Amino acid sequence: MDNDGQQRRIDLRARVDSALERRVADDLLRQRRTVSHCRQAHVSCDGQRLLDFAGNDYLGLAHHPAMVSAMQVAAQNCGVGAGASHMVCGHHQEHEALERAIAQWLGYPRALLFGAGYLANLAVMQALLQAGDVCLQDKLDHASLIDGARLSQARLVRYPHADVVAARRQAQAHAEGALLLATDGVFSMDGDVAPLAELAALADEQQGLLYVDEAHAIGVLGPDGRGSAAAAGLDPRRAPLLLVTLGKALGSCGAVLVGQDWIIEHVMQTARAYIYTTAMPPALAVAALTAVKLAREQSWRREKLAGLIARFRSGAQALGLQLLDSHTPIQPLPVGDNTRLLRIAQNLHERGFLVGAIRPPSVPPGGARLRITLSAAHEPHDIDALLDALAPLAAEIAAGKGDPDHSVAG
Ligand SMILES: Cc1ncc(COP(=O)(O)O)c(C=O)c1O
Repeated sequence: MDNDGQQRRIDLRARVDSALERRVADDLLRQRRTVSHCRQAHVSCDGQRLLDFAGNDYLGLAHHPAMVSAMQVAAQNCGVGAGASHMVCGHHQEHEALERAIAQWLGYPRALLFGAGYLANLAVMQALLQAGDVCLQDKLDHASLIDGARLSQARLVRYPHADVVAARRQAQAHAEGALLLATDGVFSMDGDVAPLAELAALADEQQGLLYVDEAHAIGVLGPDGRGSAAAAGLDPRRAPLLLVTLGKALGSCGAVLVGQDWIIEHVMQTARAYIYTTAMPPALAVAALTAVKLAREQSWRREKLAGLIARFRSGAQALGLQLLDSHTPIQPLPVGDNTRLLRIAQNLHERGFLVGAIRPPSVPPGGARLRITLSAAHEPHDIDALLDALAPLAAEIAAGKGDPDHSVAG
């Protein structure tokens, strides 16, 4: 408003320019690297060959020859594109087979396939919640869960990370409307596991519904790689709805919602993020189905990964590096300051290592960190090489410990 109380049009270009300037000044500019070639744990990035400790291919399946050839054969038979959304004529038998296989693997009655986990989280929230409801979430939940809750118009209430006592207090304070309690199973930037048994008890007690995002847990945790809810001993009654993403340990792309029949049917009938988008290419569904079989059968991948995680943690401890309480393939090293983080990541890059340099808003302000991810595609000597590269940087990494509060991610 100006002095006359009149509304003034905002100059969009000026606003965008000043946001960009702030981003540059705060060392928050995001830059893409162009990958030209990748093979197992190695990538060529902007012309340089690097050992990849940044991706989420935890089981090392993304280049598996069985997946590649399954996709090639399927593309010969059914083409490259699905041709339409699922509800029009884009729902192919390959999609159906993948949904059934994942539902059967996890022991749930039904599944629903999406082109991305992000879309699935928007769909769940928009379909199940409405104004007057409550969506209770961990403060470190993934952005897609937060965005979904915002889209739903329910009241979004976030409890301090993994604090079930606070979550209970907040649920009691917001006793009106339906309650959806949503959490990452494994937290994407910290690597720790949600207290799922306690959260399931809380959801029961409050007549709410627990929704677990298994993006970083599927294939990695639990019996048969069935994820964090299975690892916590939760059955489909106590964890009625799960999100399985296909783009991380399952080495492909997309996501599958698994759950009780009534929930899946309702999401399918009403979620705009399901209805109004083209189905994933059926050949990709065939590749993902192959990944499910490999993830189930090749338990040696999980065993190898566990060995690599233990090797990294003991080596990092010996270097005096501060580790987070994570026994998953996500092994962050808190740095704190954005500028120092970028310098350290660049140093590692120059020495042949690709490591995630994670800054706000993906993590809380002051929570910048190296996000090191391990994969069954790594070998023990790869871990040792990374530790050797980290050794001369240990003092710089430790110079300002990350913000232990973690309070405002997303
Ligand atoms: C916890 C979590 N949920 C959902 C997603 C979104 O999944 P997708 O990459 O399939 O969109 C991600 C992606 O990083 C994630 O980390």
